[in-house]
Amino acid sequence: MCGPAARRMRRADPYDPGMLAPATSAYDLVLALHIIAVVVAFGWTFTLPVVYIVAARVDPRSLPVLHRIEYTILRSILNPALVVLIAAGIFLASDGHHWKEFFVQWGLGVAIVIGAVVGAVLIPAAKRAEESVRRDLEGWSGGEFQAGPDYLAAVRRLNIVGSAASLLVLVTIVFMAVKP
Ligand code: HEM
Repeated sequence: MCGPAARRMRRADPYDPGMLAPATSAYDLVLALHIIAVVVAFGWTFTLPVVYIVAARVDPRSLPVLHRIEYTILRSILNPALVVLIAAGIFLASDGHHWKEFFVQWGLGVAIVIGAVVGAVLIPAAKRAEESVRRDLEGWSGGEFQAGPDYLAAVRRLNIVGSAASLLVLVTIVFMAVKP
């Protein structure tokens, strides 16, 4: 293989007749780690709309603890997985000589933006949501639950910023796979 295809080739080609039994390389293992970190960091976030719709309908008293679970996962699962994802990506970009390629620069930018947004916007908004809905629930004794303006503002922020971050993740997965 030669030309652009060869330049983009970054791991042993199992279809190359010259390679009878290609050994698994460090690159392959780190690529697997990179993808595992993507799944662990972001997979659960796509279930959040269902979680909150069901909670609000079935038992609004579950909302404070759900927001607490949300920011605890952001801190203790997403953030460390993001660090692993970036470290693995840096190894792949260096080992495979990909630093000049757009998808790597894009991925690095997105990972940094997401890390900043999680710390500066999503965790504080989830904390505000927990506190405000706990206050709203104090005076609630069944019937239709009407959340107050503070809670609605915090949830709007979580929804808008969270959806934008999810969209960035999906676009990044496409860029990583297609390598435009
Ligand atoms: C939100 C951030 C990121 C996501 C969702 C993501 C996702 C992915 C996925 C799904 C792959 C597998 C693509 C394939 O095998 O065809 C991949 C590969 C790769 N990623 Fe990322 N990535 C991210 C961040 C980064 C960062 C920060 C870097 C570098 C600093 C990076 C560098 C790479 C490289 C070099 C590959 C290997 C390309 C290959 O050999 O096919 N990624 N990424």
